[in-house]
Amino acid sequence: MITEIAENVYWVGVVDWGLRRFHGDELSTHRGSTYNAYVIKDEKNVLVDTVWSPFQDEFMEHLREVIDPAELDIVVANHSEVDHSGALPEVMRHAPNAQLVVSKKGEESIPGHYHADWTMMPVGTGDRINIGSRDLIFVEAPMLHWPDSMFTYLAGSNILMPNDAFGQHYATEFRFNDQVDQRELYEEALKYYVNILTPFSRQVGKKIDELLSLELPVEIIAPSHGVIWRDNPLQIVEKYQEWAKQEPEKSAVIIYDTMWNGTRRMADAVSEGCTAEGVPNKVLHASHTDRNDLLVEVFKARTIAVGSPTFNNGVLPSIAPVCRDLAGLKFQNKLGAAFGSYGWNGKAIGDIQEHLQEAGFELIADPLSCKWQPSVDDMEACREYGKKLGRETLQ
Ligand code: FEO
Repeated sequence: MITEIAENVYWVGVVDWGLRRFHGDELSTHRGSTYNAYVIKDEKNVLVDTVWSPFQDEFMEHLREVIDPAELDIVVANHSEVDHSGALPEVMRHAPNAQLVVSKKGEESIPGHYHADWTMMPVGTGDRINIGSRDLIFVEAPMLHWPDSMFTYLAGSNILMPNDAFGQHYATEFRFNDQVDQRELYEEALKYYVNILTPFSRQVGKKIDELLSLELPVEIIAPSHGVIWRDNPLQIVEKYQEWAKQEPEKSAVIIYDTMWNGTRRMADAVSEGCTAEGVPNKVLHASHTDRNDLLVEVFKARTIAVGSPTFNNGVLPSIAPVCRDLAGLKFQNKLGAAFGSYGWNGKAIGDIQEHLQEAGFELIADPLSCKWQPSVDDMEACREYGKKLGRETLQ
């Protein structure tokens, strides 16, 4: 159902209730998503972004409820990733008079996706286009989260359309932030930040500073996924400022996988040690925990202990992608420790330690290993190890 989000500004996107995997198979989306696109009617008519191509027919129906595409004067593509640009070929076919506005980097990435001979108008930060009673103002936002990412601001209506930034993979029946469950909303907003934007936290902080320095009044933030922020819209900007600092809680996460429970029992004993020091902690079985949810727990915690038995001269298969993500997401301000049981070769524990070091974690204890199943003494050593991790977490 199309929604007028402000006078003569319409949401014409699509709700994808069934989406469960995103970015190929890389990101879990337990609550689906939306692909948001906006029509602005003025002396010049504008479309900002489109939707993923499997939904283009539904999107075109929504668009036509608001305007004949042939009457579009401007189509803004804030970002070339296909969940927002996928219906561009269909739109451009039916909007022969529309000028396609892209960021400077979009001038390369949009043709890179569609190989079409559309005439493009590249814009940079501060560029304006008058559309009648209002202006479009553009702000380049490279690496939030692609080089071509751009924000479009509608002066006069005071609406920021920041594409992926401030979004959530969250399918809902309502369009606005004040109409949905706040716990769900923030769970999804944080998961989105952690899994998509964490590596670019430095750019996030700088871009928000730049945006605030422009002193543009913001009454609505209309991202390209999830709900639209109209009730205290700057609340999500403040959250992003907080998240971009990556200042973790004084808590710990113990991530492990196990073959015959030896490493599991070690993980539980490490947890007991942390708990004895009063440090909140969670024990997560890597094979049984959604990887993207696990990364949210990593983001929140100060100390990350990772455990695996040695299998085929390395870590168990579920631990390898965790180690990769710890480095790839460029977490900051983390303490790390490695542990595991083994039979005749304990190489996995050293491998984990190396991964933690490469990820920039500060190692706060020597690796803890145990041969075969942990004995009573081994379990006590694990508890002491957990106490040490707990004390370091509280420093
Ligand atoms: Fe970067 Fe929602 O696409």
